[in-house]
Amino acid sequence: MTYSPAHTSPVSARASALSGNSLTELLVLARAGGAIDLAVGTPGYPDISGGMIAEASGAMLAGHNQYEHPAGESLLRQRIADMLGDGADPQTEITVTAGATEALYVALIASVDPDDEVVLLSPGYEQITAAVGLVGARPRFVPLHAPDWRYDPADLAAAFTPRTRAIVLNTPSNPTGRVLSRAELEEIAKLCEHWDVTVICDEVYRDFAFDGNRHVSITDVPGLAERGIVVGSLSKSHAISGWRLGFLRADPERTAALRRVHELTTNGTAAPLQVAAGRAALTSGLAVVTREMSRRRDVAQEIFSRLGMTFSPVEGGCFLFADISLLTEGRQDCGAFVRDLLERSGVLIVPGSPFFSDPAAGAQYVRIAFNRRIETLREAERRIVGV
Ligand SMILES: Cc1ncc(COP(=O)(O)O)c(C=O)c1O
Repeated sequence: MTYSPAHTSPVSARASALSGNSLTELLVLARAGGAIDLAVGTPGYPDISGGMIAEASGAMLAGHNQYEHPAGESLLRQRIADMLGDGADPQTEITVTAGATEALYVALIASVDPDDEVVLLSPGYEQITAAVGLVGARPRFVPLHAPDWRYDPADLAAAFTPRTRAIVLNTPSNPTGRVLSRAELEEIAKLCEHWDVTVICDEVYRDFAFDGNRHVSITDVPGLAERGIVVGSLSKSHAISGWRLGFLRADPERTAALRRVHELTTNGTAAPLQVAAGRAALTSGLAVVTREMSRRRDVAQEIFSRLGMTFSPVEGGCFLFADISLLTEGRQDCGAFVRDLLERSGVLIVPGSPFFSDPAAGAQYVRIAFNRRIETLREAERRIVGV
């Protein structure tokens, strides 16, 4: 008798559905040609603190080379709680993860079951949509409207159904640069309360809110605070994206579930780096860093508007999301535009399509990272406009 399996592929349907990183091919081209990379979010600003590097090697030499407590090294959890400043108990409400990437995945696994619906705003960070698919849930997209990337309250309300289990937010946003206002968060809270939905909020850019915009955490909004999971990271705020230090902040009941999933996912991130980050007093919202990032935002806005791109002022985060239609007059989509810019000027930016639930809706947008040294941005300008 021959055994004939029902499945035909060695790869699961969920893994097959993952499109992979759309940037990889362009990055290889860009690096080979010595291009300026304004594409990936890898921080060129702020600088990593020398004290943290010294602490990291010191921690290894001092013997912190084995498994840590899976919930995270205790001093680091305390520092994260202090940094958040919202009264979180580091023993029962903070979990250290391998970056916000693991945190997001763990939060979804711990909160939603296959076939549950998850409300997402579009355009949004593409990893969020992919993670929702990977856990077997169904995204329900709420469109955000250009140029200021706000939702229509009727669309938001219509996205919630009895099958909705969670909403995932990201403020300040990658890629749109929006900072959700307190009024918007209160509106979302009413829906979450009505439909008894968990809110997962990616707040990795919490330190970068510009002009009069203030980052409002879901922990500061009644109705969301009690049902919320905050996803955070030190990758961008402390320029240590390679250290893989992220965290989850949630109430004790949710935290117990998050920790069980986390123990099966990574069982913890690098012990000496956790020790080092805990010892180097973590700070957040340092006025000087926010002010310097805002200067870089200004420079990026000036360069790319001079080039003919249009956009609303970036409220927060480290990305400029720009409309290229005045430049292309509809003759090129964002992918072709980005390749062309790379070939002509040696500057790499990102096509906007992958951030949209319907990629065609993003054909006229590009994303530009401005968490760079001012000289890097100026060199990009020289290459693009020849000044
Ligand atoms: C919105 C958002 N969330 C999460 C991440 C990933 O963060 P981490 O390096 O902590 O995994 C990024 C990285 O670009 C991001 O833009």
